[in-house]
Amino acid sequence: METLVPILYIIAFGLFIYGLMGLTGPKTAVRGNKIAAVGMTIAVIATLLQVRHNWVLIVVGLIVGAALGVPSARQVKMTAIPQMVALFNGVGGGAVALIAWSEFRTSGGFATEATYVIVASLFGAIIGSVSFWGSLIAFGKLQEILPSRPIGLGKAQQAVNLLLLVAAIVCAVFAGLGGASQLWVIGLLVLAAVLGMLVVLPIGGADMPVVISLLNALTGLSAAAAGIALDNTAMIVAGMIVGASGSILTNQMAVAMNRTIPAIVAGGFGGTTLVPGADDGVDRTVTSTSAADAAIQMAYASQVIVVPGYGMAVAQAQHAVKDMAKLLEAKGVEVKYAIHPVAGRMPGHMNVLLAEADVSYDALKEMDDINDEFSRTDVTLVIGANDVTNPAARSDSSSPIFGMPILNVDQSRSVIVLKRSMSSGFAGIDNPLFYAENTSMLFGDAKKSVSEVTEELKAL
Ligand code: TAP
Repeated sequence: METLVPILYIIAFGLFIYGLMGLTGPKTAVRGNKIAAVGMTIAVIATLLQVRHNWVLIVVGLIVGAALGVPSARQVKMTAIPQMVALFNGVGGGAVALIAWSEFRTSGGFATEATYVIVASLFGAIIGSVSFWGSLIAFGKLQEILPSRPIGLGKAQQAVNLLLLVAAIVCAVFAGLGGASQLWVIGLLVLAAVLGMLVVLPIGGADMPVVISLLNALTGLSAAAAGIALDNTAMIVAGMIVGASGSILTNQMAVAMNRTIPAIVAGGFGGTTLVPGADDGVDRTVTSTSAADAAIQMAYASQVIVVPGYGMAVAQAQHAVKDMAKLLEAKGVEVKYAIHPVAGRMPGHMNVLLAEADVSYDALKEMDDINDEFSRTDVTLVIGANDVTNPAARSDSSSPIFGMPILNVDQSRSVIVLKRSMSSGFAGIDNPLFYAENTSMLFGDAKKSVSEVTEELKAL
C-alpha cells in the first residue's frame, strides 16, 4: 500500500494537469473536464485506501454528497451555472474551515501538532471561512436573491474589513499558542465569515466575474493549506492547481475589465446610477424596428457582426443564430461574432453556447481583435447583450463601469439590438447605445426575434 498510494497520486496529478490543458479551448474542454474527473476519482480512491477507521461516516458522507450534488449538477440550467460554481466552490472552502476546527478538537487544542501543521490549519480556517461565506453572498447576488448593486458601509468599509482580519488573526494566534479553548477557533471562523460577507457585498454586478474567480483561487489555497496540515499530497497538489490557475484567471479578468484586484475588493464598482426613464434631461427616444426591416438591412450588408450576450443564453437562441448566419452567408454576407471576455455569466459562456451550435471557431473574434472593425461594419446585431456594449464605459466618468473595455458596437453604421424591454443588464445601469441615432431596437425574446428575421431572410 505504501508504494501503491503514491503511484496512484502521481497518475491522478498527471491527469489533473492534462485535463486542465484541455480546458484552454472549447473544442477540448469537455474531454479535459472528464480527464480531470478521472484523476480526482483516482485521488479519492488512493486516499480511501489509507483509511483505517470511520468507514461508516465516510460512506454516509459520500452518499449524502452524491445525493445532493449529482441531481443538482444534472438539472441546473446553463444560465445558472455561475451561481452553482460559486456554491460548489464555497462548499470547498467551508470544508477546509471545518477540517481545521476538527483538527483543533482532536489534537487537544493543537497540543500534539508541529508548528507548520498549526499554521497551515489556521491559515486554511481563515481563508476557507472567508471563501465559504463570500461565495454564499456571490451565489445570492447571481441568483438575484440579493440585489446585484453594491451594499456597503461606505468610507468605513475598508477600516472595518481590516479590523475583522486583524481580529481573526489574533484569535488564530491564541488558538495556535495552545489555548485549549475552542472559543478562539469559533471566534476566528465567525470573524472570517463576517469578513467574507463584507468583502463581497459591496462589489457591484459588473465585477462579480472577477470576485468569483478570486474566491475560487482562495478556496484552492485553503485546500492546499489543509493538505499540508493533514499531510495529504493530493490536497496540496489539487489545491495549488486551483489556487494558481484561479489567480491567473482572476488577473486576466481584472485586466480585461481594466480594474485592479485591490480596487475591486475595495468595492463600489457597478451599481445603479441612471435608470431608464429617469428625469435627468437625457433624450431617451428609442427607435423600434421589425424583423422584416432587420432582415433587409442585413441581407444587403457586406459584413454583419453578431454580439451575443447573456440574453442569448437565456433565450437559448444560439442554434437560431447559427441558422440565420448560414442564410446570410449564402447571400454573400460575411458574418463574424464579437466575444467580450465577460459576456454572459461565466468565462467563455458565449464560446460554449456558440460551439454547441457548431459555429466555426474562426468566426469567433475576441474583443481586442474585432474592436477596430466595428467602424467598417454595415450592421451589428446585438443579441441579448447590454453592459458589454455600453459606451458610457468609455465616455462617462461618473458611470460605475467607467474604464471597463467594451465592444465598440456604437461605431458601426447601423446597430440592431434584440432584447425584450428597456431593462438594464447585470450592472443595473442605463445604456446610451439604445438611444443612439444609428440604433434600432427589435423587442422580443431573442430566439423568437432571430427566427422571425430568418423567415424574412428566406422570403427575400
Ligand atoms: P447583461 O448586461 O447582463 O444584459 C443582458 C440583457 O439580456 C438584458 O439587458 C436583458 O434585457 C436581455 N435579455 C434577457 N433575457 C432575454 C431574452 N430571453 N431575449 C432577449 N434578451 C434578453 O449581459 P452582457 O452584456 O452579456 O454582460 C454581462 C454582465 O454580467 C456584465 O455586467 C458582467 O460583468 C456580468 N457578469 C459576467 C460574468 C462572466 S464571467 N461572464 C459573471 C458574472 C457577472 P431584457 O430584460 O430587456 O430582455
